[in-house]
Amino acid sequence: MNSSNAEGSLEMRVRDNTDYAGVPVSVINEIDTVSVMRVAIQVHNLDGIVTARRQARALGARAGFSPSDLTIIATAISEIARNIVEYAGSGDITISLLDDGIRLGIEILASDRGPGIADLPRVMRDGYSSEGHLGIGLPGARRLVDEFEIASSPGSGTRVRMRKFSSR
Ligand SMILES: Nc1ncnc2c1ncn2[C@@H]1O[C@H](COP(=O)(O)OP(=O)(O)OP(=O)(O)O)[C@@H](O)[C@H]1O
Ligand SMILES: [Mg+2]
Repeated sequence: MNSSNAEGSLEMRVRDNTDYAGVPVSVINEIDTVSVMRVAIQVHNLDGIVTARRQARALGARAGFSPSDLTIIATAISEIARNIVEYAGSGDITISLLDDGIRLGIEILASDRGPGIADLPRVMRDGYSSEGHLGIGLPGARRLVDEFEIASSPGSGTRVRMRKFSSR
């Protein structure tokens, strides 16, 4: 199962089980996290950062997050969006409301086609900044969410996925 693409893996498992194992699709839906609502934002300036924050708060509220959790989500998405504008110039952020049958949650998927990052362990440490800034955006965002994945290499851009769950 490819954990970097929950939707793709869901489709794959549904197809596999239907074709080969005969497991009802409803069972698959209960055990996999599915996206039930989604919004996509293009980010290339401060307006995009503000929109991403506002949409994350709106979807987060639907997932039942507390006001303080909504602020945490807005902070995490801000850091990632700010990096897109600052280092890649532009990129896309997709925010999804998640439902795994037990918990509701929010997923933030950010991708850009900027210069990419050569040394991921280095940028994930507190205090590293190529620009002489504080260097706490990425490690800070990572601490604020339940799941954090980053994929990047020079020339191919950067992709960040964050998930945070609330209880029903
Ligand atoms: N989307 C991106 N594309 C290319 N490089 C990036 C991207 N995001 C982060 N980086 C690199 O990772 C470094 C660390 O990012 P991080 O957000 O942690 O700190 P920062 O942006 O330098 O400072 P700040 O604390 O203000 O966020 C950046 O200095 C930059 O070199
Ligand atoms: Mg930053």
